[in-house]
Amino acid sequence: MEDRLKSIEDEALRALEDAQDKEAVEAVKVRYLGRKGLLTGVLKGLGQLPKEERPKIGRLANEVKTRIEKALKERLEALSSAGGPKLIKGFDPTLPGRRLPVGHLHPITKVLNEVCGIFERLGFSTAQGPEIELDFYNFEALNIPPDHPARDMQDTFYVDDKVLLRTHTSPIQVRTMEIMEPPIRIIAPGKVYRCDSDITHTPMFHQVEGLMVDEDVSFAHLKGILTHFAQEIFHKDTKVRFRPSFFPFTEPSAEIDIQCVICRGEGCRVCSQTGWLEVLGAGLVHPAVFRHVGIDPERYSGFAFGLGIERIAMLKYGINDIRLFYDNDMRFLNQF
Ligand code: FA5
Repeated sequence: MEDRLKSIEDEALRALEDAQDKEAVEAVKVRYLGRKGLLTGVLKGLGQLPKEERPKIGRLANEVKTRIEKALKERLEALSSAGGPKLIKGFDPTLPGRRLPVGHLHPITKVLNEVCGIFERLGFSTAQGPEIELDFYNFEALNIPPDHPARDMQDTFYVDDKVLLRTHTSPIQVRTMEIMEPPIRIIAPGKVYRCDSDITHTPMFHQVEGLMVDEDVSFAHLKGILTHFAQEIFHKDTKVRFRPSFFPFTEPSAEIDIQCVICRGEGCRVCSQTGWLEVLGAGLVHPAVFRHVGIDPERYSGFAFGLGIERIAMLKYGINDIRLFYDNDMRFLNQF
């Protein structure tokens, strides 16, 4: 019986050394000291032993029980001071986690979304067209035949004789009117390309085209909508200027300027000392464009506009060089 007690004690102490968490220690306690435990069994069987052996074995069994209980307590303390589960070498689970850097939208995307939101709330839906466009849609269908001097207004990147990178979003007017019957009320946001670069021009920039066609659409509607737009995107007392202009696909035509927010109209480098910055071109749809797409110009009239998103972003954020938007300098971009 003495050997049996010795082997129970050895087994229990080894099992405790291997125990890596509280649950494993508890399992050792149940196996050896529980109601049906191995040591408890020995103690319960003392009555069966010859009378003269009982005191000695009883004392030995109680000593083993005390040592196992002490080892159990020590193991539990060791585990709780080590922070619970076994530590993986080189990894400290108590350290705070690494933060993932959170990105944000590019300032141009933000302004583009804001501009589209204003027109969507006025009931305009969104149309799209290809960035690699046919000469026909970019020029001819917009009343700009080959050799027309208006082609020089935009420095075009040609792919071949008939294909080019669209220079404006106006071809989407034509593509939309080809497939939709009036009443039409759309905006068309997208990238456009021109061989152009200085503090107010980039070779790739964004425009949002607007087109409304119905019976009795007048210049007053165009003026009202664009003034509302300017006051929504900037603030209620933003000064807007409609200046007569020329586009082959609108008649009459206008260019719309916003008072320069950088110099507050005093005149600076950005507004070429004029106090105004041109942000969009607009006008009433030319009858020749309507005829190209089979809409009766005697019955329907409409207005169209094309606004430059980068110019609006410059005014909104007080940026004095448009090229900063595309330099990918994080010190600049992180400010938005
Ligand atoms: C046009 O592109 C016409 N399609 C606009 C239009 C649409 C007129 C519908 C009538 C009816 P314009 O070339 O002026 O027009 O360009 C429109 C706007 O794009 C400008 O007011 C300006 O804000 C912006 N823009 C023009 N060129 C650049 C450039 N290189 N970089 C950044 N913005 C530009």
